[in-house]
Amino acid sequence: MSTDNPDNSRRKFLSGSLTLVGGTGAAATLWPFISSMSPSAKAKAAGAPVKVDISELKDGEKIDLIWRKKPIWVVKRTKDMLATINTNEEKYKDPMSENTEQQPDFAKNKYRSLKPEILVLEGVCTHLGCNPAYKPSENKFFCACHGSNFDLAGKVANGSPAGANLKVPPYRFEDENTIVIGELPKSDNKSKG
Ligand code: FES
Repeated sequence: MSTDNPDNSRRKFLSGSLTLVGGTGAAATLWPFISSMSPSAKAKAAGAPVKVDISELKDGEKIDLIWRKKPIWVVKRTKDMLATINTNEEKYKDPMSENTEQQPDFAKNKYRSLKPEILVLEGVCTHLGCNPAYKPSENKFFCACHGSNFDLAGKVANGSPAGANLKVPPYRFEDENTIVIGELPKSDNKSKG
């Protein structure tokens, strides 16, 4: 990757590939139409799981979406990016992801994810809630508000004012190219959301 700009042209906005999963799992509504819903339908949709199509996501790219009013990132990590991720106790405040509030059980692993190459995170700094920037050329996320650094698994670096790793939301793969944000894997019903 050659740019640090999170708004670079490779960033994906999900105008057409983002859907909300209805109560039956069958209904699909494009996000922009939420504003035209009744208050009760809007409240239901605001907490509903969100489906994201990652079929067009290329190596190193990041998708930004909103779930429960929070920014969610989906990043396709390259092999080189994965090679930068480690659990060095001297570098990170929670190298083994032991703070159970910060990820479901399925993400308590080296890459903090279901599949090594696909990272799903809440884009909210655990210091005071700013939105960190994706810095692929530096293999990190950086929160400019007060200078917190997170690796490409969302682990907070020692020396950062943030105290916890970036949060991994509940999610599951519906198929190879479809992620459902807000639902746990069917086989992982002990995990926390
Ligand atoms: S809010 Fe991110 S470092 Fe303070």
